[in-house]
Amino acid sequence: MNRTTPVIPQEDIQRQREYCAEIRAYNSQLAGAPTAYVDTYGCQQNEADSELIRGMLTEMGYEMTDTDKDADVIVINTCAIREHAEQRVLGNVGALVHGKRRKPSQIICLCGCMAQEAHVAEKLRKSYRHVDLVFGPHALWKFPELLRRVYLRRGRVFETENSDGAIAEGLPVRRSGKVKAWVSIMYGCNNFCTYCIVPYVRGRERSREPEVIVEEIRQLVAEGYKDITLLGQNVNSYGKDLGEGLEFPDLLERAAAIPGEFLLRFMTSHPKDATEKLFDVMARCEKVAPVIHLPFQSGNTRVLQAMNRRYTREQYLDKVRVLRERIPDVVLTSDVIVGFPGETTQEFEDTLSLIEEVRFDALFTFLYSPRKGTPAAEMPDPMPKEEKSANFNRLVETQNLISLEKHQAYIGTVQRCLVDGESEDPRNNLNARTPGGRLVHLKGDPALVGRFVDVKIVDCSTWALFGELL
Ligand code: 5AD
Ligand code: SF4
Repeated sequence: MNRTTPVIPQEDIQRQREYCAEIRAYNSQLAGAPTAYVDTYGCQQNEADSELIRGMLTEMGYEMTDTDKDADVIVINTCAIREHAEQRVLGNVGALVHGKRRKPSQIICLCGCMAQEAHVAEKLRKSYRHVDLVFGPHALWKFPELLRRVYLRRGRVFETENSDGAIAEGLPVRRSGKVKAWVSIMYGCNNFCTYCIVPYVRGRERSREPEVIVEEIRQLVAEGYKDITLLGQNVNSYGKDLGEGLEFPDLLERAAAIPGEFLLRFMTSHPKDATEKLFDVMARCEKVAPVIHLPFQSGNTRVLQAMNRRYTREQYLDKVRVLRERIPDVVLTSDVIVGFPGETTQEFEDTLSLIEEVRFDALFTFLYSPRKGTPAAEMPDPMPKEEKSANFNRLVETQNLISLEKHQAYIGTVQRCLVDGESEDPRNNLNARTPGGRLVHLKGDPALVGRFVDVKIVDCSTWALFGELL
């Protein structure tokens, strides 16, 4: 094996499963199964991690609940990408103190990206004394051992050491849905965009073995999953550490060759590494959904350079041109940051003009948030808040109009949609997705959930399409 990144030995994983059995035996003596609540913040990677946490908790004999109230174990899986997300977590974790006063045996755990930040761990240690267990993404695989330590010691446990990270296979998973599934194909990021905390908290890029991934997808398809998203911080770096010459488009093609009716999606793609080979595979494989999330972050080359994105405005536009040549009806979504340190309003105009030129189907817009320990947090940032907000609002308005126009173009068309769930709205009781992932509200038999159906699009808003079953 030529792999250059570490894998956790199977004996170590086995030991975790033994700890699960030990806790399960303890729990089975209690009157009634103890309950656990897992709350997830942030991205799909965190959702996928929470499915592993639920898998381990289930193996330990806990029953899942959907409220923290009276739960025996609470796990808060956190996100560190922006200040706002962190404040929300800290507010909610602070409020858990009341429940714990009512039920002193309750165990409160905090994990995810915030736990891996030294200053946050310190704050939790000092000021959030009702939190019993804190562990970062690197320690996820030993959650059973850590929880056991909390029980045995009746003291607090912090496992937040920094690491480049490793691959852990063979942990139990408990998935949240029956139609859509996440499959992590790699972890970590090597890009060090200057604003981003992810490389510091999630370690270096490392890939799962292709055979293990393909087998997992095969299993999901056999179980009836129809919409499978391959996850990675930058999926286009997949395989670089495996030393086999296998690249992400190769993996995608192998996965798309699995028999059965299902769609494959993936996120996220760094534009610098999104290749024509990838676009060709997308165009060639029917099971790969015609959609790509390609964050551009800024439309100005100087700002892109300050962000360490390693492409220019022109190179980004060129990628989009090639992509649309290969897949003319591709759905294109993106992320953008407004108010990066030193960005002038004139430079921001380039971001506006880029979105008008590209016309994304949807855009995730973020106001820059300084992250401690990243280079951008040390850069001079003279622009007043009000000016940043005004720019941000202009961007949102411009994109909303584009999204609406893009949606209007669907009216009258027939789309092969996957019904992926029920909604609260009795007028349109079902939610579905177009192949490109746009949300469609429609009315129909709930038994259609999990099925592909033809839908005529009859109306739309900025956020969604409205359809009728054919
Ligand atoms: N401030 C604002 N937005 C950020 N993102 C990442 N870091 C920051 C930050 N410090 C955005 C980027 C990324 C998305 C997941 O979050 O646009 O693509
Ligand atoms: Fe952050 Fe850049 Fe890595 Fe994305 S590619 S996780 S924005 S450092």
